[in-house]
Amino acid sequence: MPLLDWNEQLTLGHDEIDSQHQMLVDMINDLHEQLQGGHERQGLTDAIQGLKAYADYHFAEEERLMLRHGFPELETHRLAHLEFQEQVEAFTAAILREQYQETSLKVLAFLTGWLNRHIQRDDRIFVEFAIRH
Ligand SMILES: [Fe+2]
Repeated sequence: MPLLDWNEQLTLGHDEIDSQHQMLVDMINDLHEQLQGGHERQGLTDAIQGLKAYADYHFAEEERLMLRHGFPELETHRLAHLEFQEQVEAFTAAILREQYQETSLKVLAFLTGWLNRHIQRDDRIFVEFAIRH
């Protein structure tokens, strides 16, 4: 069973953003599956870094769209992306250093919580703005 289900609350009505968010949800579910199947420390950090690389690409695309639409909250939104990127880097370092099984569960909780909140609040505000401008 997937950890995160794609649902109506996550669908914002912007094809490009929605499909990239769906990819992030798939990647989180893959990571969850990998954790359930037993895993090596290296495989885990590779999967998290892969997810982060895709998130980096997605954030850059979102910020490019925000710039194009003249979104006034671009800087605040960019900070939220930056915090996510820093948190994921900190988790990767912790996995390499510590009891990684426990940290992995924290990573999953963070990823699902952050993505759900960010999409439904911050990204929704932008998409609603983009439709009007
Ligand atoms: Fe965003």
